[in-house]
Amino acid sequence: MITVDLKGCSTFVKPEQYKAYVKKALDAFDVLESEKGAGNDFLGWKHLASETPESIIAGCEAVRDSWKAKGVDLVIVIGIGGSYLGARCAIEALSGNFDKLLKGPKAAPDVVFAGNNLSEEYLAELMDLAAQRNTACVVISKSGTTTEPAVAFRIVKAFIEKNYKDAAERIVAITDAKKGALKTLSTQEGYKTFVVPDNVGGRFSVLTPVGLLPIVIAGFDIRAMLAGAAEMEKTLAVKSEDNAAIQYAAMRNLLYTELGKKVEIMVTYNPKFQYLGEWWKQLYGESEGKDGKGIFPASVNNTADLHSMGQFIQEGDRVMFETVINIKKANRSVVIEADEQNLDQLNFLAGKHVEHCGAMAQLGTKLAHIDGGVPQVEVTIDHIDAKILGGLFYFFEFACGVSAYTLGVNPFNQPGVEAYKKNMFALLEKPGYEEQTKSIRKRL
Ligand code: PA5
Repeated sequence: MITVDLKGCSTFVKPEQYKAYVKKALDAFDVLESEKGAGNDFLGWKHLASETPESIIAGCEAVRDSWKAKGVDLVIVIGIGGSYLGARCAIEALSGNFDKLLKGPKAAPDVVFAGNNLSEEYLAELMDLAAQRNTACVVISKSGTTTEPAVAFRIVKAFIEKNYKDAAERIVAITDAKKGALKTLSTQEGYKTFVVPDNVGGRFSVLTPVGLLPIVIAGFDIRAMLAGAAEMEKTLAVKSEDNAAIQYAAMRNLLYTELGKKVEIMVTYNPKFQYLGEWWKQLYGESEGKDGKGIFPASVNNTADLHSMGQFIQEGDRVMFETVINIKKANRSVVIEADEQNLDQLNFLAGKHVEHCGAMAQLGTKLAHIDGGVPQVEVTIDHIDAKILGGLFYFFEFACGVSAYTLGVNPFNQPGVEAYKKNMFALLEKPGYEEQTKSIRKRL
């Protein structure tokens, strides 16, 4: 269950303004649900949770089990953007903060990521790690041609082929059903493959094998995650002013359009949710930032960022509002003890849970930021687990579709992502880019 609380916006907006934007969001909901809006060939994500066949789930679990049988203890997951952030977000959210450093046998292999940068040092150091471990690789690219993952995969593939006789059994590819270099290579080498459906864009793909396979390999319950998303799918399909996605989409569009709040900061208070912010930024940034419009999505992880970004949020340019992820219950418990000397003068907290201090910091920050002119939207979940995370993924995806249609943009394309790639290929002197290479050189 996810609730959206808009009370932290009430001093900034008039009830009739909100009503008008709810009406716009309800119209946008109809566009999304009619499946006739712009980008409607990319709506496959809407029913993934309820319609994912058992064969895909069992197929992901089978890879996990076969690598376990080989003693694999390091899985390199290669991908970028939508082919990376969902899995990373879920694994960070569901793992213990220090799991990788704990001694003793591990229930699941360590999952590390590559192909999301072009850092030579990163890849060299990754190969140092792979050399010490029993390694396998999941390579993910819908197009099969993205440079960053392709470069990383070339290096990891060569390493695996050099070091393992069963190399082809240690590589799984997730890509297009029919086309692209990765598909061709997989067929040629006999890799196990999973498909990124044609009608699911990268940033909406966390509930396809793109997210499910790395998440299950890391030891988490993808069945629960899909069940949580399926419940949310049902809940959000009801057209109502109380629909959490409508409420969120209406308020963020109101704040943007009427109050000039051009920046939305996702605020999290648990270090495990840092990558929820990263995943959400791509989802909203790529979906809405086009045609000269869009809210710039930013994120902070408090309380750490209260000591870096807190000053700006409190007193800087009043361009932002915050969407706070409120977690009701901690999964673990630590109580602050009394100290005889009380030099730090914290004995007034003796017997209190650390989470209580966190909750008061969160509340104090909320009040201070409202006083400072920063409206607060609160999205509340009970605690962090796979089922709730599945629901949260679906909530933000669905709300994104409603919100982008409310704004009047196509949520499902990303034409702007190509611009840097063209320049990069020209500068790298890729065959076919000769003209661009010449013209770009003149600018340098
Ligand atoms: O959302 C998107 O479409 C992008 O972020 C892509 O996921 C990203 O560019 C990776 O593309 P691909 O999976 O084709 O390698």
